[in-house]
Amino acid sequence: MSADDWWKHGIVYQVYPRSFQDSNGDGIGDLDGIRARLNHLVSLGVDAVWISPVYPSPMADFGYDISDFCDIDPRFGTLEGFDALVQEAHAKGLKLILDFVPNHTSERHPWFVHSRSARSDAKRDWYIWRDPAPDGGPPNNWLSNFGGPAWSFDEVTGQYYAHSFLKEQPDLNWRNPEVRAAMYEVMRFWLRRGVDGFRIDVLSQIVKDAQFRDNPLNPDYVEGQDTFLRWTMLHNTDLPEVQPIVAEMRRVVDEFSDAHSSRVLIGELYLPLPRLVAYYGLNAQGVLEGVQLPFNFQLIGADWQAAHIDRLVRDYEAALPAGAAPNWVLGNHDRARIASRVGPRMARLAAMLLLTLRGTPTLYYGDEIGMTDVPIPADEVQDPFEKNRPGMGLGRDPERTPMQWSADANAGFTTGRPWLRLASDWRTCNVEAQSRDPDSMLALYRRLIALRRACPALHRGSYEALEAGNDVLAYARIGEGRRLVVLLNFGAAAAPVPQALLPRRPLVLASTDPARAGPVDGALVLSPGEGVVIGNEGAEENQDPPV
Ligand code: GLC
Ligand code: CA
Repeated sequence: MSADDWWKHGIVYQVYPRSFQDSNGDGIGDLDGIRARLNHLVSLGVDAVWISPVYPSPMADFGYDISDFCDIDPRFGTLEGFDALVQEAHAKGLKLILDFVPNHTSERHPWFVHSRSARSDAKRDWYIWRDPAPDGGPPNNWLSNFGGPAWSFDEVTGQYYAHSFLKEQPDLNWRNPEVRAAMYEVMRFWLRRGVDGFRIDVLSQIVKDAQFRDNPLNPDYVEGQDTFLRWTMLHNTDLPEVQPIVAEMRRVVDEFSDAHSSRVLIGELYLPLPRLVAYYGLNAQGVLEGVQLPFNFQLIGADWQAAHIDRLVRDYEAALPAGAAPNWVLGNHDRARIASRVGPRMARLAAMLLLTLRGTPTLYYGDEIGMTDVPIPADEVQDPFEKNRPGMGLGRDPERTPMQWSADANAGFTTGRPWLRLASDWRTCNVEAQSRDPDSMLALYRRLIALRRACPALHRGSYEALEAGNDVLAYARIGEGRRLVVLLNFGAAAAPVPQALLPRRPLVLASTDPARAGPVDGALVLSPGEGVVIGNEGAEENQDPPV
């Protein structure tokens, strides 16, 4: 793989630092812990690690409330420890991607401490301050993603400040050029330290309506639904003014890119397809000047049916601007885990889907061993999202439980008391046990990743949708003279594969069913939930005419 375009053809792995590996027994994962576990990522075969925020933080939102953008929280380590992590990751051939949180800071960030101190303060306009409505209430009807109004009243100066998330996370004012310059310097600070890019938090929400108009009612709202959905976010998300800012961010990372290493921007964007692909930033000259990878979360909410996924992949392929790099995400620290969403058997199929589609895959830590959501009793809840709106199933603790490494105490995660309880199955479901078991989820992930890396058709080839009938999703991946056929049975019944879809002398290159391997003899019938990647015998020797 060439150095400059690793993010197009490589695989990204997300680490939630609190939960990956604790190195000092305080029950909280840390940077030295991640460093100690890099070999797991190497043996898995991924290319880049994205770590959720590790900056100094009061931890109201576990690191997404940042009080200093240019340091490391002592709970996670030190700047020296961070440098050591970058160095060691690079020495092992891994890229390191940081989380960049431009929308808000912690209320304890010195910028906000200044801003709230007086209306005349030089940093007043770095945040979004408004007078109360005539009735003394919030300036408009905007809501916080975490419940309640997106505004909190500050007694000291008699105004409201905006917060799209917790009141402890005041929103920065990106219309202010000083804020932009300061935040670009933050990016440079980390780029100089060698990071390979950023995943940008809630990118679409960073600019708000200049007139602060009320959001309109959502016509699709159904009574009884989460009240957050009652209004559309017309005036506080995805404004046209975001795009030039994205282009500025891109120019900052491009300052640090050359023929040998390119730095990447990945955008966290929960948007409908046409809006999502706008973040590639196709300009009038046909150049993509936005984020290289606007996260594609479509699989996270998808109905688990072949026809539905087929449509979604085709629509995505059709919507991509010329030259844009596609990407796919199965899970993250905000959403239920894939193994819980679709069940353990289908999670194997999901792994094959993710690793054979056209586009950069992002894996969430623990999914490679089939970790599931862990029910957290009410008195152990950590996530403020759950605390603010209990009982709605919004809590994100279940998908953030400690990584299960071994059958040692606390699954090898910590020698202390883990900050969040472990899954009950950790004694059997862990990296060590699965490393010894050729039929395990981990073994499947390793095989699929190795296959993806070895086959240009998979990591850089084109995509062709096929029709297989039943509940089977079928497509071909074509590149460098090879054509691989992927067949995924989403159904609960056995599914015969039409012979016409198979190449001559079909050979199973991978299957989610450990028993299936080698040449296909006669008819191919997929078992329920089975997925296969089919190549053809002798292709390595190039005996087949190129396609
Ligand atoms: C993003 C993060 C989420 C966080 C929120 C506020 O959605 O992924 O974990 O709570 O932004 O920063
Ligand atoms: Ca620790």
